[in-house]
Amino acid sequence: MDTRPPAATLPAVAYHDAAWYAAERHAVFATEWQLAGFRTHLRRPGDFVTHDLAGWSVLVVVDGDGGLRAFHNVCRHRAGPLCTAAEGHAAALVCGYHGWVYGLDGRLQRARDFGTDLDPDDFGLAAVDVDEWRGFVFVRLAADGPSLADALGTLPARCADQPIEKLTYSHRLEHTVDANWKTYTDNYGEGYHVPLVHPGLHRQIDARDYCVAVHDGWAEHTAPARDGAIATGVWLWRYPNLGLNLSTEGMNVERWVPDGPRRTRIIYDFFFADVSPATDAARREVERFGVEVLDEDRRICEAVQRNLESGAYDVGRLSPRHEAGVLAFQQRVRRAVAGYESASAGSSSNASEFTQ
Ligand code: FES
Ligand SMILES: [Fe+2]
Repeated sequence: MDTRPPAATLPAVAYHDAAWYAAERHAVFATEWQLAGFRTHLRRPGDFVTHDLAGWSVLVVVDGDGGLRAFHNVCRHRAGPLCTAAEGHAAALVCGYHGWVYGLDGRLQRARDFGTDLDPDDFGLAAVDVDEWRGFVFVRLAADGPSLADALGTLPARCADQPIEKLTYSHRLEHTVDANWKTYTDNYGEGYHVPLVHPGLHRQIDARDYCVAVHDGWAEHTAPARDGAIATGVWLWRYPNLGLNLSTEGMNVERWVPDGPRRTRIIYDFFFADVSPATDAARREVERFGVEVLDEDRRICEAVQRNLESGAYDVGRLSPRHEAGVLAFQQRVRRAVAGYESASAGSSSNASEFTQ
């Protein structure tokens, strides 16, 4: 039996308040390396992917030398979008508003009908840091911070035995949950809810022995898989919003991205070891099962979100036995937001409102 005292949750206001969300955009989403896409979509010069994170649109492109470059997906003329597809190929980056043309290095090549009135060197795209780990392409909006390798900490060592490079990209699914991104993360961070919320998953794993091991910025969820289960009972979470859901058939990479304080986009990218027709049924079952679990999580998260906004609840308590992952996540958000607020002291909001 765990004898640690229960810890307080974040206050309900953190889950819907505009000031909290504004602070989190900078303190969490601009500060942390964020998965923007996969190298499998970024092979030849001109291949690009786009990713929207907490209101910022970012594009990653392969430049003429084969290197990765990332930019804000924002034209320097009047903020038009350059790439609108999630992935694609382009010889140059052309704004969809008035047609300014940028090279794959982000340099402005042509400002339509401006003549010589404009120095192109003053209007290159705003660059963003980009780096790669085993085919996962990450970006970071903040100019300073740890390298991707340092930020990932010991997670790569944990994944050393995972045959990631042998898996083939299959497809993407996107869903929307009408809840704050932390409502979804809190839910992802514990298996306490499995017996009540996920009857199908509960038939595949033994939730009594569900374990969340918290590491430096990531956590490993394990639960004994029952005979014949497609769920291996291993899930890896990385702060703040990345999940690697491992199955016997492959891997489902999950990102959840805030779309305002009350809505979260869930992006699933499926990879499989075998994509031959012989495994069609097995792959369809992995997807069906993933969507079933997501639908169950969506319903509970949306109900929780409504209650968090109702005014009937303020602060709860976290189970020392089951919710260590939730606690680690919430403590990190609390520290990040308080640090951001004190660094921007002099602004109208007050750090104390984020640290209660
Ligand atoms: S906003 Fe891009 S060309 Fe005008
Ligand atoms: Fe769940």
